[in-house]
Amino acid sequence: MAQTDHPINPDVELIEGTFYEREPFDTYRWMRDNAPAYWDEPSGIWGISRYNDILKVAKDPETFSNTGGIRPATPPLPHLIDLDDPEHKKRRGLVNKGFTVRQVQAREPRIREICRGLIDKAVSKGEFDFVMDFAAWLPLIVIGDMLGIDPADHATLLRWSDELVCGASANDPVQMEKAALTMFEYTDYEQKVIADRRARPRQDDLISILVHAEIDGKKLSEEQLLYESLLLLVGGDETTRHVIVGGMYELLRKPELFAALVEDQSRIPMAVEEMLRWVTPIKNMARTATRDVELHGQTIEEGEKLLLLYDSANRDERAFERPMDFNIGRHPNEHIAFGWGPHFCLGASLARLELRVMFEEVARAMPGLRLVGDGPPPRRPSNFITGITHLPVSLAA
Ligand code: HEM
Repeated sequence: MAQTDHPINPDVELIEGTFYEREPFDTYRWMRDNAPAYWDEPSGIWGISRYNDILKVAKDPETFSNTGGIRPATPPLPHLIDLDDPEHKKRRGLVNKGFTVRQVQAREPRIREICRGLIDKAVSKGEFDFVMDFAAWLPLIVIGDMLGIDPADHATLLRWSDELVCGASANDPVQMEKAALTMFEYTDYEQKVIADRRARPRQDDLISILVHAEIDGKKLSEEQLLYESLLLLVGGDETTRHVIVGGMYELLRKPELFAALVEDQSRIPMAVEEMLRWVTPIKNMARTATRDVELHGQTIEEGEKLLLLYDSANRDERAFERPMDFNIGRHPNEHIAFGWGPHFCLGASLARLELRVMFEEVARAMPGLRLVGDGPPPRRPSNFITGITHLPVSLAA
């Protein structure tokens, strides 16, 4: 049990989805200033809130391991993110075969085609929900293509993905049960895809690559294949969607910013980096201490988990000038929305491509987009991946 002598703040509830839902930037600042290594007694986990400390932890996997699992209250699962090197490196090398620079770049025309299809539908409606009628579909379809999902099943895949992320917050028994059922349905579906690719390998999807690849002369087990595909589904779908939505919301709240991108699309890549910093859809990842270690005068004991609070790090005034300002021209912008170190996001270049193309297409085809209604939009209560769940918008003049 951790021994601590730092001040306590009752607002800190690192395991609660509602903590992240309310965007706790004041609490994060309090943590960074008063207790940058914070033992959250009710959650039984350390919260690490400063940018530099998170880099230090992420770069030292010998002391801070992934093998205890990346979620605070869940044991490790058989996917690559819950491994340390050398096993992690081998498995990552395998999955990376679907994410080479050439392969990612080659997806641009398909990504543009998906965006244009979504825009055509939205334009015909005039008024629509920017999340569920629009943004959620691009990353879902892109990852669905990679996982070999039949386009007719996209809507089911979206439901699975949402239910699994909500279930990963794992506090509400109803949601947990729903997620367990979803896992069952997803397993059944993806097992069939795996069996099909075993029998009839294709060139163009990631499951074909993973099914036939070998590590040290051994193929991946069915369970490993399933969890790897699940990591890609949740990692690829939920995250990018929230950046599209959260970024668009900020641009529409200050229409002069959106107008600036409509006017000059060459500013979009830099604006996308600011959206990534601002939204930071993955709120945290866990590490497990492999030995007793001192941080800011506190002793983190062997076996205890630490939560790397990316959202706090990306608002750390020690690392960013005026971090609470949304600045589409921010430079430099060394945000850590994609993490850092050996587990740096494998899909970062794909996500950046999707975001750039999406904002180029929206700026081109929907320059009159505006928010409908007042007040802050609803956010998902989740201790893992969160963002805006509904955002009514209109194209009407
Ligand atoms: C805006 C979009 C995204 C964000 C913000 C994001 C964020 C992250 C973060 C923070 C990590 C680091 C985990 C750690 O250090 O423990 C990570 C890892 C990972 N991400 Fe992403 N991600 C995004 C998109 C994607 C996409 C599109 C894919 C794939 C289709 C993907 C697949 C992965 C995988 C496989 C890992 C594990 C890498 C490893 O353990 O070596 N992500 N991501």
